[in-house]
Amino acid sequence: MFPDVRLRRLRKGKIRNLVRETTLSLDDLVQPIFVNETIESAIEISSMPGIYSFPLSEVVKEAKEIAELGIPAVILFGVPAFKDVEGSSSYGETDVIQEAVRRIKAELGDELVVITDICMCEYTSHGHCGIVDFGTKEILNDPTLDVLGKIAVSHAKAGADMVAPSGMMDGMVEAIRQALDMEGFENIPIMSYAAKFHSAFYGPFREAAESGYSFGDRSTYQMDPANSDEALREVTLDVAEGADIIMVKPALPYLDIIYRVKTEYAMPTAAYNVSGEYAMLKAAAANGWLDEKKAMYESLISIKRAGADIIITYFAKDAARMLK
Ligand code: PBG
Repeated sequence: MFPDVRLRRLRKGKIRNLVRETTLSLDDLVQPIFVNETIESAIEISSMPGIYSFPLSEVVKEAKEIAELGIPAVILFGVPAFKDVEGSSSYGETDVIQEAVRRIKAELGDELVVITDICMCEYTSHGHCGIVDFGTKEILNDPTLDVLGKIAVSHAKAGADMVAPSGMMDGMVEAIRQALDMEGFENIPIMSYAAKFHSAFYGPFREAAESGYSFGDRSTYQMDPANSDEALREVTLDVAEGADIIMVKPALPYLDIIYRVKTEYAMPTAAYNVSGEYAMLKAAAANGWLDEKKAMYESLISIKRAGADIIITYFAKDAARMLK
């Protein structure tokens, strides 16, 4: 009459902790930082409460706070004072990210891994992730690769520990690998945004990075959210081109992709819990509709459970405080 197997036996008290399969650790987290050359003091991003854009003069203080919380890494995004059609303020020695990297590394050295996003969209006047042919309105793949190589080398020269190409150009990993190796940076790893979807969840980021586009959209280079096999083809290529870490982005609507990538490739796998995922939860919490801390933990542990080793998240600082 009685059930022999009772799964509830393992669900109470500390027994529950003993049988927990997945854990969230400080070592999983990467905090994004926006560095803005056009501002004098930190500005909160209206669609991302608690997340700020920092001027160069305040970025070291922020990086220090992140390191002191025990978070191992940051990823930097730049907002330049000057934009043109070729994104030429993205690879200069004293441009915004190069300067930010130099300052952070000078202060923190090996205390913090500094990853840089490699993309043109924050630096181009049209806001696209590549060189544009204004006659056909096409985003040109191959001419963009040369620029991505230059950006990567300039970041490495400034002291970046890792580069992360996010523009979804074909051949971007190989182009960056070759450019880095030619300059003696063969030990700088590449974390590729391999499966990056054409997502509505990037909206708040575009406010923060001032990287909205002036025509068309990004659907000619970012992936169709309906596709999963294609994500694996992207990963196959990036692995062959020398990617060290593979990223899936966004995270929560794409847990199946994270799972497939992790199980089929056994590569170090990152997931980007993007701006819209953050904004959505913050907005619900601000209305009293969700418990913010619990919803945050559940989101992050689910991304881990799906197979991510690394989570890039605007919640990193909050999660670090929770884990302490
Ligand atoms: C740049 C880039 C984007 C994000 C990271 N790198 C924006 C985009 O592709 O439109 C989005 C990150 C986020 O939404 O948190 N290409």
